[in-house]
Amino acid sequence: MEYKKSILKALLPVVGEHLSEEEIESLIEIPNNSEFGDLAFPVFSLAKVYRQAPNKIAEELIEKIDASNFESMNAIGPYINFKLNRESVSKTVLKEVLTQGENYGAQDIGKGGNAPVDMSSPNIAKPMSMGHLRSTVIGNAVGNILEKVNYKVIRINHLGDWGTQFGKLIVAYKKWGDEEIVKQDPVNELVKLYVDFHDKADLDPSLEEEARAAFKRLEEGDEEMYELWSWFKEESLKEFNKIYEILGITFDSYNGESFYNNKMQEVLDELENQGISTIENGATIVRLEEEGLPPALIKKSDGATLYLTRDLATAYYRKRTYDFVESVYVVGNEQANHFKQLKAVLKRLGHDWAENMHHVPFGLITLGGKKLSTRKGKIILLEDVLNEAIKLAEEQILLKNPDLENKDEVAKQVGVGAVIFHDLKKDRLNSFDFKIEEIVQFEGETGPYVQYSYVRTRSLLEKYGKEINLDRLSGLEDDYSWEVIKKLEDYGKAIRQAAAAYEPSVVTKYLIQLAQMFNKYYGNTRILEDNAQLESRMALVEATSVILKDGLHLLGIEVPEKM
Ligand code: ARG
Repeated sequence: MEYKKSILKALLPVVGEHLSEEEIESLIEIPNNSEFGDLAFPVFSLAKVYRQAPNKIAEELIEKIDASNFESMNAIGPYINFKLNRESVSKTVLKEVLTQGENYGAQDIGKGGNAPVDMSSPNIAKPMSMGHLRSTVIGNAVGNILEKVNYKVIRINHLGDWGTQFGKLIVAYKKWGDEEIVKQDPVNELVKLYVDFHDKADLDPSLEEEARAAFKRLEEGDEEMYELWSWFKEESLKEFNKIYEILGITFDSYNGESFYNNKMQEVLDELENQGISTIENGATIVRLEEEGLPPALIKKSDGATLYLTRDLATAYYRKRTYDFVESVYVVGNEQANHFKQLKAVLKRLGHDWAENMHHVPFGLITLGGKKLSTRKGKIILLEDVLNEAIKLAEEQILLKNPDLENKDEVAKQVGVGAVIFHDLKKDRLNSFDFKIEEIVQFEGETGPYVQYSYVRTRSLLEKYGKEINLDRLSGLEDDYSWEVIKKLEDYGKAIRQAAAAYEPSVVTKYLIQLAQMFNKYYGNTRILEDNAQLESRMALVEATSVILKDGLHLLGIEVPEKM
């Protein structure tokens, strides 16, 4: 934060009368052309008070600014440009990174407050979809980033383990299922039964009736229904856990939809007592015309509750249990209306805390440009994707570094890292078409490229083989070092932006740039050459190492020491 602050300090006595500290800080920008300076202050916003042309204002202000901390200052058009003193800034940045280590960039935005993150949340008796992979990976990274700015994150897997589809599944299983077959390959067999149900129900609509009745019995606690449902759930969880294990992701709670089955009455009563819900054609709804939303269906005419009803109860439970300061839901963009309705209903009930509930949506993954669909059997199996990625990574290792010791472990870190990094690389709302060759790449702007840059720092440090003494650093002034220094210094800002927008891609993009700048430095500097700057050059290597590792960890990606 140091160098922006030094400009702030210099500007404050001169323009502090008209602009607050925060305003000045937010106005400071990086010039497009780095030859103009390292940072620039645009004076447009002062045009009103000074009643002058911006370029005149810049020329006049520059006369009043204390220049002693800068290499140079100059007014170009409406900007005041500052060149920093590379020697002193680089020394400070390197010292800060190396003393703070993985705490560098940490901030106290959350003040330790609770932030549940609803993530992954796949549906029982269905394979985990690519959409759920995105929720898992984005949710985990958002969680890590929030932790870095001092929220207490609670990772919640809101399992889709309740709803009328379980009535269908139970009916299908009882009619056509076979315990032995299901046991051998549970999720796939259950999906087959589910697909069968739909095919047959097209011809025989009475099946739908039976399914509704079965779900009703389940909701009322019927033992036979409950046993079947528990078994489906247990088998599904086993398969989901395989994927979480590969990804290295854990949860603090698995309270899913069924957990709220007996917790909906309170909100239903409140809605009724406050005259917010109405009954139309036997169904309970909340009209949301004022909010410009379709009516929220709370209870069907047969008394069955819905996804939304359970989310209302969930919101109550989370507020009460965690007293959250922010509550995050990482769920596909196709559910945008659902979350708008959820918040709208809570606000109608007078719950202002609904303002702190955030739907963090993301784009679709398509296959050959088309939407995926479990029902049509158009699915991508996640476990296959991850295993394929690991296999491709293994092939690369065998090609490039056949003597590597822990090949299997590294292949897993690199393969899985590639999948995660690819998912987090673009703004989360971007949709993308699934192509395994694109996901598992090792060159260019990829996870393995950043991992490889980290490995490069480790091998330099190993070759150097000595402790770095921070008191002896001399500061670095050449252009290649300077670009890396400025980028390192920018880490905290990237984290702040990523946290504010729930957008891990800010960190992903940051890491690509840091790795690129470091590799330029590496390619153009005799880093290990013995002279007066050696220790400072190695300090830069180590500082880069620390940040690459910490940044990858924020994304949920492991770092190999060698590859
Ligand atoms: N199970 C849902 C689905 O797959 C996602 C649940 C998201 N979380 C929530 N609280 N609604 O569509």
